[in-house]
Amino acid sequence: MCGIVGYIGSKNAVDLLINGLESLEYRGYDSAGIAVFDGEKINVKKEKGRLSGLRELIDKNPVSGKLGIGHTRWATHGVPSVKNSHPHTNSDGSIAVVHNGIIENHEALKDFLRENGYTFKSETDTEVIPLLIDYYYDGDLLSAVRKTAEKLDGSYAIGVIASAEPDKLVAVRKDSPLIVGLTDNGNFIASDIPAILSETRDVYLLNDGEFVTLTKDNVFVCDIDANPIKKEIYKVEFSAQASQKDGYDHFMMKEIHEQPQAIRNTLRGRLDKNLGLTLDNIEFSDKIQKLYIVACGTAYHAGLVGKKAIEKLAKLPCEVCLASEFRYGEPLINDSTAVLVVSQSGETADTLAVLRMAKKLGNTVYAITNVVGSSVAREADYVFYTYAGPEIAVASTKAYTTQLAAFYLFAVSLAEKRGTVSENKLDDIKNQLLGMDAVIEKALTRDAEVKALAEKIAKEHDIYFLGRGLDYFIALEASLKLKEISYIHSDAYASGELKHGPIALIEDGTVVISICTDPEISNKLNSNVKEVTARGAVTVGFTSCLSDTSAYSEVIELPQIDPLLAPLPAIIPLQLLAYYVCTAKGYDVDKPRNLAKSVTVE
Ligand code: G6P
Repeated sequence: MCGIVGYIGSKNAVDLLINGLESLEYRGYDSAGIAVFDGEKINVKKEKGRLSGLRELIDKNPVSGKLGIGHTRWATHGVPSVKNSHPHTNSDGSIAVVHNGIIENHEALKDFLRENGYTFKSETDTEVIPLLIDYYYDGDLLSAVRKTAEKLDGSYAIGVIASAEPDKLVAVRKDSPLIVGLTDNGNFIASDIPAILSETRDVYLLNDGEFVTLTKDNVFVCDIDANPIKKEIYKVEFSAQASQKDGYDHFMMKEIHEQPQAIRNTLRGRLDKNLGLTLDNIEFSDKIQKLYIVACGTAYHAGLVGKKAIEKLAKLPCEVCLASEFRYGEPLINDSTAVLVVSQSGETADTLAVLRMAKKLGNTVYAITNVVGSSVAREADYVFYTYAGPEIAVASTKAYTTQLAAFYLFAVSLAEKRGTVSENKLDDIKNQLLGMDAVIEKALTRDAEVKALAEKIAKEHDIYFLGRGLDYFIALEASLKLKEISYIHSDAYASGELKHGPIALIEDGTVVISICTDPEISNKLNSNVKEVTARGAVTVGFTSCLSDTSAYSEVIELPQIDPLLAPLPAIIPLQLLAYYVCTAKGYDVDKPRNLAKSVTVE
């Protein structure tokens, strides 16, 4: 996590750094800081909390310069504080560093530096970096950074400036994202493309182990032995506008409303109106007998739905795993397995580690990702882009629904190849997918009812979600959305499990939200809802298929659709519910406490 940015050129670096950090705040917002070379020395300004605090600080004590680095922090080592904020410097402030990642051997490096007379000002792992650069510095910044990188274990994207060499900015990445932005007025580094989009669309996507030296009119990329590396310019296609709020109060609401278009983008070029389906150039070997679907957070929830779709249509056994568990779980990877990783950002540390592990073990790795050119996209054998456009709000919405769309396309394509389901059935699914944008539009019309419900339940301390089958997976995602932005304790249960424990939690007035989209099992769910109602629960149903709603205090109607596809529209009103509960409580929708959009550390 954390976001870094850097600039060297002919413009004032301060505004460019602050603007860049603003688009990177989704990566963490525990503190923010910049270091700018003012012509004589490096000035460091840093403040705890949001970027607005740093802005105020700079307004009171302005700095300027044409070379600088900036950082927005998600604390890992050391509490959020000014002292622990980046940039970190060597003792005389002549070298400044910003870092995203974790230096795993920082304790050993601290011992080494202490033995060599260095002292530490912060509790961070990062501080070893400027001190090591200082230790190795002999008049060549790039060489000192290369020697430093050799000593670092862990993950890092690092930006470095030194007052002795004010005509350059040096950076390097390993297991943390970093790009270079190229302009006629100077050059940038950044953790992510939106940070430089207002200035340029020409970027270099750096790979692990690549070092870069920026001057105001040149960019030199090399490996750890200083061998030059030739990079191709990558042209960014999405606009800076796509990273703006477009009149919505929050990115989350904008992104919820973008879902019909996002789904169209996912389907475009893959599923045509004559029902022809092509999955880019993705190939599945007949040898694959089992698919591991691996992801974190919301992407994991998409994987749960994906498994059902692939198993139901293509009859290919799938196992869905949390990346953080899979990588240490001795998975049974062999010649007949393949791994499909799902990641909006394409940079999640655990997911990326699984991808690398699977490749090392000789498995074919498929990826569903949103961010073009991300690490996952570059390293997987086959990539399926969701094309949802930039997702800025920490709570994922359009990334989830486009991942679901991607899974449905995978499932149908595999079923066609394996001949496991009738053509008529597959055509029906394809037709429904083509009409999915309109179904989602319909789900969005529940806005007012959902808002009224949100205002009623905003004061609750605990809210439970129930569902069976696919509805349970929707419940899991709905519960995650609610807890992450409203801070209400919330859990989702498979309704058949109620009597095995969770029902003990029900007391007078407990709010239970149940989801029902499958007529074949609606009666079962209904019985469970009656059981909790009998124990005093206030029950709300989000449903497309209940004939008997007598047990419910309130019902929000969901659009009718094939139950296999139901998670796609069903999640929409539940995303709105989380949004409105959060706004009713006055919390920060887009930047919930303690969370970050992209979890680039283990
Ligand atoms: C974080 C985000 C979630 C996301 C998860 C996985 O927790 O807040 O929204 O689902 O990471 O991220 P990825 O980019 O790999 O999908």
